[in-house]
Amino acid sequence: MLFTTLLTAILLISVGVAADHIVVREAPVSLPIARHLNITGAHDLLRKDQARAKKMFVGSKVKRSGSPASFSVTNQAVVYGANVGIGSPPTFYNLLIDTGCTNLWIGGGKAYVQTSSSMSLPGTVCESCGVGFCGKEFSDIVTLSPTLVFRASIGVAPTGSDGFDGVLGLGPPDLTTGTLTIIPDSLFSQGIIPADLVSVSFEPTTNASVTNGELTFGGTDATKFTGTITFIPCTTTFPASEFWGINGSIRYGASTTILSTTAGIIDSGTTLVLIATDAFNRYKSATGGVLDASTGLLKITSTQFSNLQSLFFTSGGKSLEFTANAQIWPRSLNTFIGGTAGSIYLIVNDIGSPTGSGLDFINGYTFLERFYAVFDTTNNRVGFANTPFTTATTN
Ligand SMILES: *[C@@H]1O[C@H](CO)[C@@H](O)[C@H](O)[C@H]1NC(C)=O
Ligand SMILES: *[C@@H]1O[C@H](CO)[C@@H](O)[C@H](O)[C@H]1NC(C)=O
Ligand SMILES: *[C@@H]1O[C@H](CO)[C@@H](O)[C@H](O)[C@H]1NC(C)=O
Repeated sequence: MLFTTLLTAILLISVGVAADHIVVREAPVSLPIARHLNITGAHDLLRKDQARAKKMFVGSKVKRSGSPASFSVTNQAVVYGANVGIGSPPTFYNLLIDTGCTNLWIGGGKAYVQTSSSMSLPGTVCESCGVGFCGKEFSDIVTLSPTLVFRASIGVAPTGSDGFDGVLGLGPPDLTTGTLTIIPDSLFSQGIIPADLVSVSFEPTTNASVTNGELTFGGTDATKFTGTITFIPCTTTFPASEFWGINGSIRYGASTTILSTTAGIIDSGTTLVLIATDAFNRYKSATGGVLDASTGLLKITSTQFSNLQSLFFTSGGKSLEFTANAQIWPRSLNTFIGGTAGSIYLIVNDIGSPTGSGLDFINGYTFLERFYAVFDTTNNRVGFANTPFTTATTN
């Protein structure tokens, strides 16, 4: 085992020296990301999010016990993907952007195409976060954008039936096991980007598929947010501490407490906003929503929608206002998730465990569509800023 690790280290070092393809660029690099709605899979929206939450609890516990878990690729109903090139010449893979996962994995829709730049490394590597794979390790040239080309150690899992070709993990380094490259950690240590952080911009949309997101490696993109970025230290509470976790509380309207200060996570691989069961019950009575059998979501009447108050996520003295509009599923996409056109469904739902579980909220991408987010490894913190879409009435 020690020998294998050593050998891998030597291989990586020697590969690093032959840095023929590497473009060193001391400025942040942005790349576009596209949103996709899985028309066949979206009927399971809630079940998929809850299954992922369960894996996050189990996965981090399994990892603690030292034996990596092997999970299959989850099909998320609504996802953001980036087109990432691997090899030289590159083959392009549509990778799921996942802040709840670390490392770059190919596995799913498209088989790994080896080229002269591909080097097989010994041993099996596993990812044990919410998505999770086990597979072989390779070192290869990764093209994130024309100006962000570098060599990395990637995981290659067997192909399956999933629509996505793998995962571009942007989780904190803690999630990693073994020698797989941590992005953007490794980009920073190689001097390719100026800071060890990644910023994410999503926008709400009523379109099923649209390229309206952006990842920025090594910095922030001032055109994507308004005001200043407030940073919140990452939580020490397990298992939220394994992910991009923070302490925070949730209030409905002026004074109704939904969730007292507790630990939760920010996760681009989850679609909805999931909160502890008792908090969800409080939200349900505050909004008057009734569970809709076909979507699993809370459904409200148009009168209840006009009375719907903002949710306030408060953390580190900063309150993020999640408007009534932000709390509803885009109505033009109701039928995609098994709902009826014209109905109003709420995107806040039940995480499936009570407050005090160490991971009491998951702010998924419906949350990230309303706030600019910065995942800062160096300072172990998450930053948020408002965007031109924070109070948009898109839905
Ligand atoms: C969509 O979901 C279906 C059903 O869960 C799954 O079989 C399919 O692979 C998914 N497609 C994509 C593109 O994720
Ligand atoms: C969304 O779709 C509509 C029609 O389907 C189209 O007119 C519009 O340009 C699209 N918006 C974006 C941002 O692609
Ligand atoms: C978060 O909450 C936990 C539990 O109350 C506490 O121990 C910790 O100091 C808090 N702050 C951080 C940054 O984890």
